Amino acid sequence: MKVLGISCGRKLGNTEILVKEALMGAENLGAEVELVRLNDLNLKPCTGCNACVVSLLEKSSSGDCVIKDDLKFIEEKIMECDGLILGSPIYEKGPTGLLKILADRMGPSHDVAFRMISKKVREEKGITSGKPVDERSFKTRSASLIAVGGSEWDTLALPMMQLSVISTHMDIVDKILVNWTGLPGSVLFRDEIIERARKSGEHVVKTLLKQEDRRISDEKERPEYIGEKGICPICHSKLIEIRNEDKNYPAICAVCGVKGTLNVINNKVKFEVSKEDSYHAHVYLSGKFEHGDELKNIALKPNPKIEELPKLMEKYKNYLSYSKPDKK
Ligand SMILES: Cc1cc2nc3c(=O)[nH]c(=O)nc-3n(C[C@H](O)[C@H](O)[C@H](O)COP(=O)(O)O)c2cc1C
Repeated sequence: MKVLGISCGRKLGNTEILVKEALMGAENLGAEVELVRLNDLNLKPCTGCNACVVSLLEKSSSGDCVIKDDLKFIEEKIMECDGLILGSPIYEKGPTGLLKILADRMGPSHDVAFRMISKKVREEKGITSGKPVDERSFKTRSASLIAVGGSEWDTLALPMMQLSVISTHMDIVDKILVNWTGLPGSVLFRDEIIERARKSGEHVVKTLLKQEDRRISDEKERPEYIGEKGICPICHSKLIEIRNEDKNYPAICAVCGVKGTLNVINNKVKFEVSKEDSYHAHVYLSGKFEHGDELKNIALKPNPKIEELPKLMEKYKNYLSYSKPDKK
């Protein structure tokens, strides 16, 4: 069993220390461990070229990204791992920008539903051209998220970190939020947090050891989650967006997208989601397949007036040239 640690923080900074402590816990229970510092990698932003989606859904192929950089390296590490310890410092209330870049690059290209469709159509049609999707995309993985901040400006950190592993369909089995830890190494004076990180690494291994069948499926019970329960009953997020204009669903979970209602019971806010609505959550295959259909039928459906587009574009094509720095 392999547990990968990804640290998005400084060398030997607070995040790296906690990720290493979690990896020590995992190793102690028999896992093979490895650490990657995300800042060591050259990762370029997604350009939105959609080559990955075309590869998966039109060519029934692997969905590989066409940008040549270190994505291949980290993608291989993620594909081969069974467990993940993902740690990020909190920058501007969220995780670091490089993690968002990785999340975008691993987004549609690694969406497990898109990959399942690609495999199914390839097999049904007997397609032999191109490369098939990586079979390792379909195994369950347990992930622990550790967000580390110097203050309490933290609201988007864990939600965005959780979103960064949603397309690969990892089971979030723990989330840790650490506040007031600014100077490098200062977390070492807080024994309870160090212990908590170790427990997290151990828990990742324990959840994997409990699973005999490692194939992703909505039918199976999800592994035990030991982090703070949060407010969303599906993904334990605490971040709920209010949409009062929607009479049926005035509240939506910012992470898993499930819709429901908010009520205050005994001075505590409760987010209630019906069983039927829960199937739409993006952490389930059902929600991911639904999203695929939405894209096909709405967002990516050619407009009947498509021939008029070049003319409508003229106005914007000829307006302004791009301001760019001089090339040295
Ligand atoms: C650009 C930048 C933005 C930051 N923004 C926040 C923030 O919004 N909230 C917070 O709690 N800490 C913030 N911090 C503090 C870091 O999260 C904190 O120092 C943390 O320990 C860094 O992790 P590291 O030691 O693993 O590098 C910020 C630090 C930097 C450099």
